[in-house]
Amino acid sequence: MAEISSETRFLHAIEMGLGAWQWGDRIVWQYGHGYSDTEVHQAFLASLGEGIRFVDTAEIYGNGRSERLLGQFLKQTEQPVLIATKFLPFPWRFGKSALPRALKGSLRRISTESVDLYQIHWPTPLLSIDTMMEGLAECVKSGMTRTVGVSNFGQSRMLAAYSALARHNIPLASNQVHYSLLNRNVEKNGTLARCKELGIRLIAYSPIEMGLLTGKYSADSPPPGARARNYGGLLPKLGPLLKLMTEVGQDHGGKSNTQVALNWVICKGALPIPGAKNAAQAQENAGGPGWKLSDEEVAKLDQASDLIFES
Ligand SMILES: NC(=O)c1ccc[n+]([C@@H]2O[C@H](COP(=O)([O-])OP(=O)(O)OC[C@H]3O[C@@H](n4cnc5c(N)ncnc54)[C@H](OP(=O)(O)O)[C@@H]3O)[C@@H](O)[C@H]2O)c1
Repeated sequence: MAEISSETRFLHAIEMGLGAWQWGDRIVWQYGHGYSDTEVHQAFLASLGEGIRFVDTAEIYGNGRSERLLGQFLKQTEQPVLIATKFLPFPWRFGKSALPRALKGSLRRISTESVDLYQIHWPTPLLSIDTMMEGLAECVKSGMTRTVGVSNFGQSRMLAAYSALARHNIPLASNQVHYSLLNRNVEKNGTLARCKELGIRLIAYSPIEMGLLTGKYSADSPPPGARARNYGGLLPKLGPLLKLMTEVGQDHGGKSNTQVALNWVICKGALPIPGAKNAAQAQENAGGPGWKLSDEEVAKLDQASDLIFES
């Protein structure tokens, strides 16, 4: 394990965050159907009440609505909140100056002078890694962000970003990637291990697999919208894993499947950022950290997850 730089240490101290993709997104999450501004505000407040104070948003979420809502919510609380947002490499964005320019837009929407983490949402062939890292370095030097990270970067791109930033004396703080009991690519391809080695915080998105690991969806009762299509093949195979999660949760005083799913991510050494549409979901998710699965339980869950993909 590498020594963690003082600038990024705060990220390693966070056990769990709150994802804000749900705040305004109609396409995947059906914002406006069953939940809206009031409910996500309550989810935010419930999370803060439980000590979750790291919020992950992006300029693209709800076409800016997520960042604007975060700005409104921050004005209504005295509590300190750590903010992460993301740069979207739209094809019309050229050159390193696109990054500080885009960050200024995010800061305006969030109504803040700086964020704690600014991430590249995903890699693009249109902007070289060196150019993007130069842009991120400018964002740090101008004081608009405390740290910088990447998202959806495979190992070789992540290493290139790490080295490019090192030339500016700036640590790569994080890589935000898909990681859950139903998607263990980063564990199996060595990205998680490499992150630990280099002191890069692996931030796990979709840690409850977009609701699948809660146990509330099945082949007979699939999730709405695009998720039904994407997960159609997986839903009939979830039974044994969900059953084991329930048994394991019962051995920890009745932890729910959702809480077991989040704790498993934490036990693996990653930082989960579950999204929540309302206070009840946020409240339940907040029970993910604060306790520990045993090594044996983690191994059993790993095995049950492997079996899904071997069948
Ligand atoms: N960097 C990237 O490319 C990227 C990609 C994806 C996500 N992210 C980030 O990661 C965050 C989390 O990922 P995600 O939103 O994709 O998936 P997730 O956190 O695995 O799942 C969130 C969804 O699960 C359901 N849910 C959450 N808590 C629940 C509970 N306690 N009980 C029952 N249902 C619950 C809700 O949807 P329903 O109620 O509709 O089932 C909620 O919208 C996002 O908000 C975003 O910040 C980043």
